Amino acid sequence: MGGGVERMISLQFMALLLSVNFVASVAEEREIYLVLVEGHPVAFHRGYPPSEDGRRVKPKSEVDKFHAEQLEDSHDQLLQRTLENGSYNRLHSFKHIVNGFAVHTTPSQARKLKAAPGVMLIERDRGAKLMTTYTPQFLGLPEVWTEEGGDKNAGEGIVIGFVDTGINPLHPSFAYDPVKPFSSNISHFSGACETGPRFPASSCNGKIVSARFFSAGAEAAATLNTSVDFLSPFDAVGHGSHVASTAAGNALVPVVADGFFYGQASGMAPRARIAVYKAVYPTVGTLTDVISAIDQATRDGVDILSLSVGPDEVPEDTLTFLSLFDIVMLFARRAGVFVVQAAGNHGPDPSTVLSYSPWTVGAAASGTDRSFPGSLLLGNGEKVGGVGLSGPTFGNGLFLYKLVLAKDAVKINGTFPRTPQYIEECQYPEAFEYNAVQGSVVICTFSAGFFNQTSTLTAIIDTARTLGFMGFILVANPTYGDFIAEPIPFAVPAIMIPSIISLYYEQQTNRDERGFVTKFCARAAIGDGRVASFKGVEPIVSRFSARGPDFIDTKKNPADVLKPDILAPGHQVWAAWSPISALDPMLKGYNFALLSGTSMAAPHIAGIAALIKQYNPFWTPSMIASAISTTATKYDSKGELIMAEGYNIGNLSPSTPFDLGAGLVSPTHAMDPGLVLFSGYDDYISFLCSLPNIDPDTIKASTGEFCNHSLSHPADLNLPSVTISALAETQLVRRTVKNVGFRPETYLCSVLPPNGTMVSLYPSWFNISPQGTQDLDIHINVTKAMNAFSFGEIVLTGSLNHIVRIPLSVLPISISL
Ligand SMILES: *[C@@H]1O[C@H](CO)[C@@H](O)[C@H](O)[C@H]1NC(C)=O
Ligand SMILES: *[C@@H]1O[C@H](CO)[C@@H](O)[C@H](O)[C@H]1NC(C)=O
Ligand SMILES: *[C@@H]1O[C@H](CO)[C@@H](O)[C@H](O)[C@H]1NC(C)=O
Ligand SMILES: *[C@@H]1O[C@H](CO)[C@@H](O)[C@H](O)[C@H]1NC(C)=O
Ligand SMILES: *[C@@H]1O[C@H](CO)[C@@H](O)[C@H](O)[C@H]1NC(C)=O
Ligand SMILES: *[C@@H]1O[C@H](CO)[C@@H](O)[C@H](O)[C@H]1NC(C)=O
Ligand SMILES: *[C@@H]1O[C@H](CO)[C@@H](O)[C@H](O)[C@H]1NC(C)=O
Ligand SMILES: *[C@@H]1O[C@H](CO)[C@@H](O)[C@H](O)[C@H]1NC(C)=O
Repeated sequence: MGGGVERMISLQFMALLLSVNFVASVAEEREIYLVLVEGHPVAFHRGYPPSEDGRRVKPKSEVDKFHAEQLEDSHDQLLQRTLENGSYNRLHSFKHIVNGFAVHTTPSQARKLKAAPGVMLIERDRGAKLMTTYTPQFLGLPEVWTEEGGDKNAGEGIVIGFVDTGINPLHPSFAYDPVKPFSSNISHFSGACETGPRFPASSCNGKIVSARFFSAGAEAAATLNTSVDFLSPFDAVGHGSHVASTAAGNALVPVVADGFFYGQASGMAPRARIAVYKAVYPTVGTLTDVISAIDQATRDGVDILSLSVGPDEVPEDTLTFLSLFDIVMLFARRAGVFVVQAAGNHGPDPSTVLSYSPWTVGAAASGTDRSFPGSLLLGNGEKVGGVGLSGPTFGNGLFLYKLVLAKDAVKINGTFPRTPQYIEECQYPEAFEYNAVQGSVVICTFSAGFFNQTSTLTAIIDTARTLGFMGFILVANPTYGDFIAEPIPFAVPAIMIPSIISLYYEQQTNRDERGFVTKFCARAAIGDGRVASFKGVEPIVSRFSARGPDFIDTKKNPADVLKPDILAPGHQVWAAWSPISALDPMLKGYNFALLSGTSMAAPHIAGIAALIKQYNPFWTPSMIASAISTTATKYDSKGELIMAEGYNIGNLSPSTPFDLGAGLVSPTHAMDPGLVLFSGYDDYISFLCSLPNIDPDTIKASTGEFCNHSLSHPADLNLPSVTISALAETQLVRRTVKNVGFRPETYLCSVLPPNGTMVSLYPSWFNISPQGTQDLDIHINVTKAMNAFSFGEIVLTGSLNHIVRIPLSVLPISISL
């Protein structure tokens, strides 16, 4: 549905995000640089673990501690040797999974550093943002969540790490219930409980097993505001609490807002333990703090890492896979951590994903079948649809109230600035004649003030309260673009509607010759907007959800990797909030919020990964990722191909893997996928070494590894998908599957070839024993050159009913003879 409000809110939020972003500044002003240096970090010195092994960095010995201190020392020495004294400030040393540091210095000093012996890679801190869209404005009922998460032991023994804005430790979603003590052993994990403002030691209560905060980057990038930027793991924003409760919040927590009961919330893995790594502050977010957090979380031994934060720009001088952020995630995975990222919110344009690398899982977002339809009843019996999470006007639609357009209620001789935004947008109570608006339903209109972020919804509510409106209507204005209104909780009856209701209003309103109203005869009532409706088709890929194809550089040259990987609910997700709500005044005081964004999709996948890990403790991250992908569905609740939203309201088109990856996650099937496609750290290095025109020195600088082996083509990486961005004539791609079931099984191989290709599979069927592996040759010949990607899939159907789907995305460029 249309409405002016979503845009205005997204703009408000954008403004906040701009200040959150670390902005590049003029020459010789200090900036933050991230630096990788030669030498093994603690986790990988003495050669362990040799590769991704499904378990993590081993217990911390005295030797490790000594090694860590040495590394930190070496960082200081390098800086002292290379840079002018007093020209820099070392912010943080990364030493667990990568060896490097963050330094605050000038561009000219950074150039010196780049040339210094021992320095492998240097990158400007691009800042880190929250991957929420359209701000906090929504509410809902848990539904998809409880499917698996309702299980009373779901997630036992698993620790999920959240790198985000912190956590609200007082929230019931994170309460420890002494009646139901954890039975599991998390001896593989050792965190810490860092205390500080609003975060006493008791906050680490057994459900929250560890909480740390990283602020060196934030403190260097901006002047922090002590009343919101708490130097403690406490979440003043709400985002971190939302994400953590979606993945691992307690089961059956009642969701109440403005006194209304919306249902019960449960995390996907309600018995998983939570480890908090706060790295983004209301005022600023830096990559320095995010990377420090990932480094530490991996050392602490988290099983799963959920990242709904990250850089919002494509890396400048390096390949997407080789930016420090992606490299750190590679080493987290090497240490056995399953990493899920929000795919990004810059859809629906192609190549907008912010998750690039094959060693992470990038989550796309969809809506569900739940919506919160609001309604406006007019005196002529007409009913206009809209949204707004508020109760109805008194009488619940039985009584109608005087309908007044804001500009018709302006004080005739009042002294105030008579700008349209002042009046139409109902921003200031002093503009209105009390007798005209008191007890009325007032029509406020979206105009320039909202568009350029000077007006707020909070101000409308204040005006409504001060003057005793019965309710208000916020009307969209198509002049400012095409909008989707998202439900926002309103403490007074209110609705946002897409279209102007001027015809009815004008017919019923008497005016004098100067245009002044002499009598208001139009009448209206606002219906209850808080009642969920479960109609319609689900899921639909959300408009904002970032799209593939994946790409390797700022020129957006396509990559031979499928992104996003997977689709999960990320539109109007109800979860825990922090009443301080430092970035969104609309949600101040609330304990729950309905949010949208791929930020909300990622923790769904984190929770499901926790369940898989619980039942299959020895599965490596790539096995878990494969299980999630090959069992996903591309069909919606009607049995049709899942549709994807385009730019225009109501413009849906059949989705492709570039919208939803393998499809909508199916937790039940992901527990028992039959086969998995796996790859490890060495394979990722071989993949990097096989990128087109890649210089082995570049790989060495980012990863520390030589290119001793490369794949014959990047598409040969053993992923649960096949993506070929330039298919000339013919190509042979190989995949290897492993039987993770407990019985031998026979699989039949079938293929739906992408348009413009012929695909043959060898073998066409196979028997596979438990733990056995099988190679599958996929021979693709081009029959017709195309100017766009086309899509197909390979399906392996097992005799024990396992179905393994592998999406094919190819761009056939020249024909084979
Ligand atoms: C910086 O000062 C230290 C001692 O304080 C000295 O050893 C070092 O050489 C100086 N570095 C430069 C680049 O001047
Ligand atoms: C937890 O598991 C570890 C290793 O599996 C074991 O050594 C330890 O005794 C266990 N602790 C408890 C409390 O069960
Ligand atoms: C700090 O945050 C508080 C609360 O949001 C705000 O009132 C105050 O103006 C802020 N101070 C500065 C210097 O920005
Ligand atoms: C407004 O001012 C005009 C002229 O200044 C005057 O004629 C009129 O009566 C005033 N109206 C009211 C409602 O005070
Ligand atoms: C907002 O937009 C209006 C109309 O375009 C303009 O007059 C006003 O100056 C703008 N305000 C700001 C703060 O940009
Ligand atoms: C890889 O090659 C480099 C030199 O190019 C060599 O030093 C190194 O030992 C090789 N590593 C392996 C594992 O073969
Ligand atoms: C393949 O081509 C046919 C006809 O040209 C078209 O209808 C169909 O949508 C295409 N399928 C895909 C997956 O592109
Ligand atoms: C594809 O082409 C190769 C030779 O380039 C040929 O051997 C193979 O049979 C062809 N496959 C199909 C399915 O046509």
